[in-house]
Amino acid sequence: MEALALERKAEQNRELKERIAKLKKERNAIILAHYYQRDEIQEVADFRGDSFLLAQKAAQTDAEVIVFCGVHFMGESAKILAPNKTVIIPDERAGCPMADMVNVEGLKALKKRHPNAAVVTYINSSAEIKAETDICCTSANAVKVIQSVEADEIIWVPDKNLGDYVSKYTDKKMIIWEGYCNTHDMLTVKDVMEMKAQHPNAQFVVHPECRPEVVKLGDFVGSTTAIIKYCKESDCQEFIVGTEDGTGYQLRLDSPNKQFHFATKFLVCPNMKVNNLKKVAKCLETMQPQIYVPPQVAEKARLSLERMLQVK
Ligand code: 13P
Ligand code: SF4
Repeated sequence: MEALALERKAEQNRELKERIAKLKKERNAIILAHYYQRDEIQEVADFRGDSFLLAQKAAQTDAEVIVFCGVHFMGESAKILAPNKTVIIPDERAGCPMADMVNVEGLKALKKRHPNAAVVTYINSSAEIKAETDICCTSANAVKVIQSVEADEIIWVPDKNLGDYVSKYTDKKMIIWEGYCNTHDMLTVKDVMEMKAQHPNAQFVVHPECRPEVVKLGDFVGSTTAIIKYCKESDCQEFIVGTEDGTGYQLRLDSPNKQFHFATKFLVCPNMKVNNLKKVAKCLETMQPQIYVPPQVAEKARLSLERMLQVK
């Protein structure tokens, strides 16, 4: 961008941030932003986090309104956990393709075939799927959740890559759904090897939503928060990052003198980037779109989320 266009953009952002701060006070709202959101959204957020931390925060907040900057299932989980709050999102079209890869009919059929299995569902799923679930998990607690389940057989939906990773930590029989994250699954062994050759002193940190053969190359494997924590605390000064590019905001904030190379320029979730500051201001102004979950679905789904929050 030219210098003039950049200056104009910065001025627009300043104005939008002021408007958002004012509206937030008027509405008694809290802005929650996932680490994959655009930098300028993470800047105005009251709280940044991964799926687990944001769900926890939504369940605990005193604010009357939650502005959820992430993708649809995250706003839905917030509404399920905090039914008396108004949950608004900047853009209804911000969905998660992985969440859409599993449907209720398919899951019910699988449950029928494996009546003794417990259903463990990644939080990246719809409210209807959560309502058919025994316990939810996120990438931050997936192993602990699996280990907390009593049944010897587990139906795991929808992420096959995270399912493969978790299966290494349990002897239970896992029936794994064939879903995946279009963004993380894009990263190949070749991409990582090329980056390693370019940055021989860097450690490779990777999210378990990546393919198993890519995860195998990791010096560290963990959820977005775990990756951020590891990079902050490590003595290493240079990292190749195998997760979504928005994570760079928190990584650079925590460790301004370390170097972070994203494993490919394609590690950008287009759904997460649908939101922008203008839409955040607009949803606070209009209080639309609001998340609605039918009460009979929400009630059942809440149990599976609350069970997850209780796992220590
Ligand atoms: P976490 O927030 O659990 O790291 O999951 C990553 C993700 O893809 C969220 O959509
Ligand atoms: Fe869904 Fe992947 Fe985007 Fe997360 S990064 S919202 S799992 S598509």
